[in-house]
Amino acid sequence: MRIAIVGGTGAMGFGLALRLAKAGHEVRLGSRQSAKATAAAARARELTGRDGIVGETNAAALTEATMAILTVPGTAHLGTLRALADPLRRLPVLDVSVPMAFGPLRYDPPPEGSNAAQTLAVLGEGARVVAAFHSIAASLLTPIDAPMEAETLMVGDDKDAKRAVGALAEQIGVTAHDAGPLRFAATIEALTPLLIGMNRRYSRPHVGIRLTGL
Ligand SMILES: NC(=O)c1ccc[n+]([C@@H]2O[C@H](COP(=O)([O-])OP(=O)(O)OC[C@H]3O[C@@H](n4cnc5c(N)ncnc54)[C@H](OP(=O)(O)O)[C@@H]3O)[C@@H](O)[C@H]2O)c1
Repeated sequence: MRIAIVGGTGAMGFGLALRLAKAGHEVRLGSRQSAKATAAAARARELTGRDGIVGETNAAALTEATMAILTVPGTAHLGTLRALADPLRRLPVLDVSVPMAFGPLRYDPPPEGSNAAQTLAVLGEGARVVAAFHSIAASLLTPIDAPMEAETLMVGDDKDAKRAVGALAEQIGVTAHDAGPLRFAATIEALTPLLIGMNRRYSRPHVGIRLTGL
């Protein structure tokens, strides 16, 4: 696949770029600034030894992509969606972003109830939005030679898009459990501040989740 990562210069987008490129995908690493994207892509090529990582502006990265991944801060979510709605609308969109507030750290959803619901609201009916990876820490993705054995919950209303995200996840060592429709997105997005709090409490870099009974 050709995967565009909007906000790909950040910790989460960059970590996903490394893992997806290593799994053989073409990655378009997006940024608001072309030079920043180019530099991050060069670093990613060096770390992975893969040529198929190119840095571009977010808009250019989405051109000819077959999937989009959104990894921008919660505060940038709505603005980014509005700016890129046209190219995003035609793609399956994996939304990893989480609306959080600090002081104290908490889940802070938009009026739609979750970031994923906001994505659907902006892109419109028929948009293929999947939400997942909120429980995966970027610091787990970035050491590219370390094996991944992680789990995540995934929600969405489009079966094909969920299947595609599930397959991608599996290729990078993440089991994506289908947790149902997009209306459950708030529940899984809220895992991120919870797990960040646990990282601090247990002095661990990347606390995650594991399901039993499946
Ligand atoms: N980090 C994690 O471990 C983790 C885990 C689970 C979920 N998440 C979620 O994934 C998302 C990304 O996390 P992150 O840690 O990678 O975040 P980040 O490093 O703070 O930001 C990611 C990228 O977003 C872009 N960005 C920043 N402000 C922006 C703005 N106002 N408008 C448009 N783009 C902007 C920046 O790219 P440019 O400056 O290059 O445009 C930045 O490199 C967040 O919503 C986070 O909650 C993160």
